[in-house]
Formats: sequence, C-alpha cells, structure tokens
Amino acid sequence: MAGSLDRTVVLITGASSGIGQATARLVAEQGGLPVLSARRTDRLEALAQELLGALAVQADVRDPAQVRRLVETTLEHHGRIDALVNNAGQGLHLPLEQVSLDDLVAITELNFYAPLVAMQAVLPVMRSQGSGAIINVSSGISRMVLPGAGAYAATKSALNMLSRVAREELAPDGIVVSVVYPSVTATEFHERLRAGSMPEGGSGLTPHSPEYVAKAIMRALYTGEAEVVIPHGPERPEEMKLTDPQA
Ligand SMILES: NC(=O)c1ccc[n+]([C@@H]2O[C@H](COP(=O)([O-])OP(=O)(O)OC[C@H]3O[C@@H](n4cnc5c(N)ncnc54)[C@H](OP(=O)(O)O)[C@@H]3O)[C@@H](O)[C@H]2O)c1
Repeated sequence: MAGSLDRTVVLITGASSGIGQATARLVAEQGGLPVLSARRTDRLEALAQELLGALAVQADVRDPAQVRRLVETTLEHHGRIDALVNNAGQGLHLPLEQVSLDDLVAITELNFYAPLVAMQAVLPVMRSQGSGAIINVSSGISRMVLPGAGAYAATKSALNMLSRVAREELAPDGIVVSVVYPSVTATEFHERLRAGSMPEGGSGLTPHSPEYVAKAIMRALYTGEAEVVIPHGPERPEEMKLTDPQA
C-alpha cells in the first residue's frame, strides 16, 4: 500500500540484514524508493526483488571510493537523494586491555568514518535540492558505561558528536540530521562482532525487533527530530507511531 513517502529516495547502508533490511521494507511500504546497500549482493538482490521500486547497490562502506560510487549510482538511477540512513555497523565486545588497534581501526572506519564520507558525498545533491534528511544510527550503549563495550561505544559517541555538529552546520541548507539510538535489538549483530563476544546470557535486556527500530528511523525521517532514543525494555508501540507532520 502506498504511504506518505511518495517516491522519496532513501539510501540505506547495511540493508542486507537486521535494522537496515527492516527499514528498507518500511520505506517501500510507505511508498518510498529504497536504495539498498551492503556487501552481500545475494541478499540485496533478493530484497530488491521483493520491494517495489528498490535498487540494490553493492558497496563496502569502509572504502571511501565505494561510498562515493554508491552515491553516484543512486543519482544516475534516480536523479536525487532525499534521505540517507547511515546504518551499516559492527560491534566489538572486549575489555579495553585486549582491544587490538587493527580491530579498533576497522570498526572506526565502519561506524564513524563511513557515515562522514557518505554525508559528504550526498551533501552537494541535497544542497542543490534545497532539502535532505540524514539519519545516523548510533547505539544506546554510547549513553552508558558498560565494561567490554568501550571501543564500540567510543565509535558511536564520535558519530553522535559529528551528527550534532552536522545538524547545526547543515540546517541553513535545509538538510536535517538526526540520530537514532537503538537499544539491544534481535539481529545478526551479536553473532557478527569484529572481536570478542557478548557476555554469557546476553545483556539481560529484552531485545527489540528490527521492525521496531525501523519505525524509530522512520519517525526521525518524518519529524526531523534531533534524537530518537529507544528506551530499554519492552517495546512501546505508542512511542513509535509514524507521525507524518504532512499527513
Ligand atoms: N542489534 C543491536 O543490538 C544494536 C544496538 C544498537 C545499535 N545497533 C546499530 O544498528 C546498526 C545496524 O545493526 P544491526 O543490528 O541491524 O546488525 P546486522 O544485522 O549485523 O547488520 C549490519 C549491517 O551492516 C552491514 N555492513 C557491515 N559491514 C559493512 C561494510 N564494511 N560495508 C557495508 N555494509 C556493511 C552488513 O551487511 P554486509 O555484511 O552484507 O555488508 C549488515 O547489513 C549498526 O550500526 C549497529 O551498530 C545495533
């Protein structure tokens, strides 16, 4: 059913699983045109077959040249980019004493540098359109002190500050930057850590569904609010209503 996104072009990184995949589905359901990006092409292509108007573009976002190519390919196809969801990310769970610099560099490239490069790549087109939305997917962990999570939380904290400054810098151009802070979410994330492993028995928190987090991303897209913080604990559907101010 067509919704209120009305052919809005939404570029989503990390769309091959979890939160990114759920966001892509919601964008398509709402009538938007999702551009699906990640490294696993088989998954992207399967999802693109399923979603009306979707485009799959493979990119390893740790490589700035591939991020720029992703943006160029999107522009060649659609001629515009209305929204960018910087969602691709990876965790690491180890005491700081055991964190290797190689691993820290890898997650920093993915969780912090890649969103910056993607923002820089879409800015000229959003500026020329006179509008655009950028949503950076952070983590609730960047708002806590959790042993084992320091390195990962540091990459997301860096992203938070970058996003806050970008919001101020870009407001005069009609570009709105928001941050979404998911809590623990039931995705592959916890099995695909760069290094270390989650504590036995998990975090003790009730995981949210990726669909719930996707709604928070959509809410940020509709409202342009600076931050959507998803509280820990059971899902609260009333807090994730898709509130379209234009509706
Ligand atoms: N799950 C949680 O509990 C949780 C909590 C707070 C925040 N988050 C954040 O939410 C975001 C989405 O995570 P998720 O939970 O949906 O995890 P996920 O299911 O593991 O998804 C991660 C996505 O990132 C992509 N990705 C990883 N490395 C990439 C690279 N080098 N280039 C391009 N894409 C890459 C993966 O695709 P490919 O492997 O196909 O490239 C995948 O689509 C992340 O930023 C994560 O930090 C998650």
